[in-house]
Amino acid sequence: MRRKAAAASRNRTAILDVLKDHLPARGLVLEVASGSGTHVTHFAQALPALTFQPSDSEDAERASIDAWIAELRLPNVRPALVLDAASATWPVERADAVICINMIHIAPWSAAEGLVRGAGRILPAGGILYLYGPYRRQGTHTAPSNEVFDGDLRRRNPAWGVRNIEAVAELAGAAGFGEPVVVPMPSNNFSLVFRR
Ligand SMILES: C[S@@+](CC[C@H](N)C(=O)[O-])C[C@H]1O[C@@H](n2cnc3c(N)ncnc32)[C@H](O)[C@@H]1O
Repeated sequence: MRRKAAAASRNRTAILDVLKDHLPARGLVLEVASGSGTHVTHFAQALPALTFQPSDSEDAERASIDAWIAELRLPNVRPALVLDAASATWPVERADAVICINMIHIAPWSAAEGLVRGAGRILPAGGILYLYGPYRRQGTHTAPSNEVFDGDLRRRNPAWGVRNIEAVAELAGAAGFGEPVVVPMPSNNFSLVFRR
């Protein structure tokens, strides 16, 4: 059941460096769209004072996450939950941070809307919403490779695509978040850190 995502193995160190600057010292971190579990297990090992709650909408992904948790015997990672970001009800009522890596371009816009609204519902004032992925800025791609990737995504599903940072920030503003800290990441990706 255990899978390792190659991209996640490559980007997890750079993402962890940003998370260390922004996550609270203690508390519960909900990961939405955990995929294989490659990130959550890495972050949990590096940040043992935090408790991590992985989740995904897909059965196969959750099976991989739970198999990794069992293999690594991580005391600070809870079993993966069924969570559809787009849903108006989530199985977690409160968290201190919500993180979501490489989902909103590979899901319909309703998933981004649900993610930001859901994070707004369950985070306290000062809580962090962390997003990672490729983004456009003011409608413009930040690299030719991202433009090619965007075309591939839209051919696979017209509802998918590389999102505008400004559009995500507008959603977040409506859900009670301030303007994001935008951190350029390797391979033309960005970290967006919103504080509620
Ligand atoms: C490209 S993978 C990224 C997985 C992982 N975060 C990573 O970076 O390795 C996209 C993930 O988003 C999940 N996903 C897609 N739509 C979703 C939704 N509406 N709610 C929750 N997860 C979703 C998929 O099941 C998949 O695990």
